[in-house]
Amino acid sequence: MKRQLHLNLFIHSRGHHEASWRHPASSPLALTDIRYYQDLARRAESAKFDSIFIADQLALAEDVAQAPRIWLEPVTTLAALAMATSRIGMIATASTTYTEPFNLARQFASLDHISSGRVAWNIVTSWLATAARNFGGAGQVSHADRYARGEEFMTVVTALWDSWAEDAVIDDRASGHYARPDRIRPINHRGDFYQVVWPLNMPRCPQGRPVLVQAGSSDTGRRFAARHADAVFTAHMAKTAAQEFYADLKALAVAQGRPPDRVLVLPGLSPMIASTEAEAQLLAREVNELCDPEVGRKRLSGRFGGHDFSRLPLDRPLSPEDFPDPGSVEAARSRTEVILNLVRRDRPTLRQLFGYLAGARGHFTSAGTPEQIADLIEDWFTDHAADGFNIMPPLLPAQLDVFSAEVIPILQRRGLFRTEYAGTTLREHYGLQWPKSAFEESAHD
Ligand SMILES: Cc1cc2nc3c(=O)[nH]c(=O)nc-3n(C[C@H](O)[C@H](O)[C@H](O)COP(=O)(O)O)c2cc1C
Repeated sequence: MKRQLHLNLFIHSRGHHEASWRHPASSPLALTDIRYYQDLARRAESAKFDSIFIADQLALAEDVAQAPRIWLEPVTTLAALAMATSRIGMIATASTTYTEPFNLARQFASLDHISSGRVAWNIVTSWLATAARNFGGAGQVSHADRYARGEEFMTVVTALWDSWAEDAVIDDRASGHYARPDRIRPINHRGDFYQVVWPLNMPRCPQGRPVLVQAGSSDTGRRFAARHADAVFTAHMAKTAAQEFYADLKALAVAQGRPPDRVLVLPGLSPMIASTEAEAQLLAREVNELCDPEVGRKRLSGRFGGHDFSRLPLDRPLSPEDFPDPGSVEAARSRTEVILNLVRRDRPTLRQLFGYLAGARGHFTSAGTPEQIADLIEDWFTDHAADGFNIMPPLLPAQLDVFSAEVIPILQRRGLFRTEYAGTTLREHYGLQWPKSAFEESAHD
C-alpha cells in the first residue's frame, strides 16, 4: 500500500481565524457548550480523520475583550468527547511545568481507559509568560529549565505508565485474587525536580502508554520531540522551511535510535476553500476585514514575552530591528523566528503582519479550490515536508465540512488517505508500535 497521510483536526474557538467567532458561517453555539465540541468530533470521525486536538493555555488571554479562546479544560473535555465518538483519536495539551507527573500520568491513563485506547498527550512546557503568575508567582521558568524539568517529567510518567504489567489484573472472583502484586512495581524515582515512590494507582492503559505528541521547534524542543514524540506538530509559512524541519527532525530521531517513520511530522495547514480561487480569496478577505488591530498587537506582544509594540506605526514596512532578539525571548522561541523570517523576507507593515498572523497564528494558510488544496497536501507529503497535516479550519464547522466533503474524497481517490478506519486505537491510526512495559523488557534481558 502507498504511504498514507495522517490528518488531525485542530479544534480552536469557532475557527482558527482570529475573527472567526464573529463570522456568520461559524457555529452559533456558546464556546462553553460541550455539544459544540462533540459535534465537531463526530464530523471529523465521519470524515475518517486520525484524531482531533484541543490546545490549552494556563492564563486568561489579554485580548479577551475582543477575542474568545479555549475555555473548557482539555482533559475533562476529552472524557466527554470519548463518549460521543468510537474510533477517532483524541489529543489534549497538558503542561510539564505546571502539573505533577503523578497527576498527569493518572489523568491520561484514565482517559485512555475511558476512550478504549484513543488518547494522546500534547506535551508542552508552557511558553506563555502570564501562566507563571497563576502558579506560585515565582516568575517564568526559563526556556532551558522548562525543558530540563520536562525531561525528568517524561522519565517519571513513563515509569508510572509502565509500573503495571499487562497481565497484572486477574479479577478472579472465585479465588478472591484481584491483582498480582509481583506484576506491579514501585518506581522509586528520586531526581532533581520530582520524587515519586509508588506505582500508578491504575492498571496499564489500553495503548500501553498514551500516544505522545509534542510541538517544540527550538533546538532543545526538537531534541525533546525526537526523543519522546510519536507525532510532532509544527508551524511553517513556507514549504522549504517545513522540509528543513522535517529532515532535521527525522535525522534527530535516527540519532536517538528511532525509526524515522515512527515520528510523524504534522505541520499546520489552514485552508479557506471555495469552488473557485477568486471566491476563496474573497472569503478570506471578508474574514480579515473583521479583525481588530488591537488583538493583533496584544497577540504579537504575547508571542515576544510581553514586548511593547504599541509605538510601532501600523503602516510602515517593518525591519528585524523593530523586534527583540529571539534569543532573549523566554516564550515560544521558534514562532518568534517564524515571524522574523517573514519580516526579513517580505518587509510587511505591522497591519499586514497582523493579517498574516490572524489566519492561523503563523501556520500555513491557503485560499483555493478543493483540487488546489489537495494538490498542496500531496505536494508537501511527497516532497518530504509532512507525513500529514494538522488541519486548522479558519471557520468551524463550515470550513471543516467543505474540507471533509470536497478535499478528503480527492485524497482518497489518489490512494493517499483511508476510506475506513483499519484499527480502533490512535496508535493503529498513526501506524505506531506498541510500547513494551518494563516487565516485558526485563523478561527479554
Ligand atoms: C500546533 C501547535 C500546538 C501547540 N499547542 C500548544 C498548547 O496547547 N499550549 C502551549 O502552551 N503551547 C502550545 N504550542 C507551543 C509548543 O508547545 C512550543 O512551546 C512552541 O512550538 C515553541 O517551541 P519551543 O518551546 O521549542 O521554542 C503549540 C505549538 C504548535 C505548533
